[in-house]
Parts: sequence; structure tokens; C-alpha cells
Amino acid sequence: MMIQETTVLWNRMAAKGYYRLGLAISGGFDHAQPGQFVMVRVGSDNQPLLRRPFSLLGLIREEGRVSGIEILFKVVGQGTEKLAGCRKGERLSVIGPLGNAFLVPDTCRQLILVAGGVGVPPIRFLAQSLLEREGGLDRCVVFIGGRTRDDLVCISEFDLPGFLLDISTDDGSQGNPGVVTHSLEKALDAGTADLICACGPPAMLKAVAAIAMARDIDCQVSIEAMMACGMGACLGCAVRIRGDDTGYRHVCMDGPVFDARQLVW
Ligand code: FES
Repeated sequence: MMIQETTVLWNRMAAKGYYRLGLAISGGFDHAQPGQFVMVRVGSDNQPLLRRPFSLLGLIREEGRVSGIEILFKVVGQGTEKLAGCRKGERLSVIGPLGNAFLVPDTCRQLILVAGGVGVPPIRFLAQSLLEREGGLDRCVVFIGGRTRDDLVCISEFDLPGFLLDISTDDGSQGNPGVVTHSLEKALDAGTADLICACGPPAMLKAVAAIAMARDIDCQVSIEAMMACGMGACLGCAVRIRGDDTGYRHVCMDGPVFDARQLVW
């Protein structure tokens, strides 16, 4: 983990209200993994004061080395609004990579990925990294959900060899009508999986965890939390853990990826 001044390579609208931001880095991300995140200082005038956490969408490679990172964000407030206005060449202070990562064990042959709304970045990064997995997978199904078709971002990037894509929208404007967890449940009624990896809104993750636990399928979830420091100092990101002495863990230090069975839902 390091703190560094990065340079904006691009800041492109990915869908209505969603942006992809590419940042040139000086180093430190060669071993960054899907699920890890960065804390970005939005603007140079310290307004807003606190850094914002963003999951890595992917790494930018040049001549065999990692020369940059990419994040995806949705404009939801003052910080992200300011970030949406960043232009190529601007400088942004970044701390990272932070947190832990999804871990797909060698024994996993059938994998399910689930992403809801702005939960796409670590799932996209994971899908891309699985292409390099030795021995590949027998099957990988990616479930992506959004409220409307405008909330489906980066879906074309899941069009990968050996991956099946299943899209849902709450309003039925694209893919299956209804929430993504209905599609997941239907698929698991017809077949099984060794592992589910998911990222998305809390209600979606809770439903995914319940579906997985009811079928005794391993499930890793990347959860969102309010993060002021990203480094275990402010205690703002605590989540309740089952059967632990203190009963709490830090999302920034112990997560953001947790075994679904660990969490108190
Ligand atoms: Fe401060 Fe986790 S964000 S302790």
C-alpha cells in the first residue's frame, strides 16, 4: 500500500451517471487483486475533506508492468460530482491498494459471479483475472442486475471465453424482469456451484448470502461501508461478525471481502 499522486488518463461516461476513471500510477499495484480498493482525494482544495473509497475495476498494463488503475463510480454526491468533472492530466492523490481480495480456490470448477449496480467493478476485475487462471474453470455464470438498463455498466466486458452472462433489470427494460437474485435462485434450482462471489447493494448481498447458505454453497461477498480513513484508524466501517470475541471487524482492514457465513446479516 502506498500514497501517491496519480494523473488522470481518462474520465469517460460509462452510462448515465456512471464514469470510468483511468489513473496513471508510479507503482505499487503489480500485485493488486480483485476486491481491493483505493482511497481517492477528490480535488486539491481538500473539499470534500475525506477521501472516497473505490473498488478497482481493473489494472492498466503497459509492456508487462502495471502503469495505471481504473475505477468506476456513480455520481451520488458532492465528492463524486467533483470527480466526474476531472479532466485528463489532472492530479489526484490515491492510497492503495487496500483491503483483501476474492479468493477462488484451485478446487473451484463451477463459479458464479453476481454484480448489482455499482457493485460491478470488483466482479469485472475478477472475471478478467480468471482468464489467466491455470486450468481455467468448467463453468462460470455471471449474473448482473440493475434497477433499469441505465444501471447496467460494463456488461460487454463480461463477454469472455467460457463465461455465460445472465442480465436482470428490476423494471424489465433489459434481460430478465425482476431482481438479479431471482435469476440466481432459478439457476441454482437447476444446477449447483462450488463458489459464489458477489458485490452490490446490501439487500442484494443479503439475499445472495441467504441463497448460498440455504444450499451450502461457499459464498464471498464484497461489502460497502462508510469509510473515512480506509486504514483501521477511524472505526467507521465496523461490521458485526458471528462468533468472534469482539463481535466486530473493519471492512477496510479485514474486508471488504468476507465469507458470507462470517457476517451477521
Ligand atoms: Fe476508518 Fe475503516 S474506514 S477504520
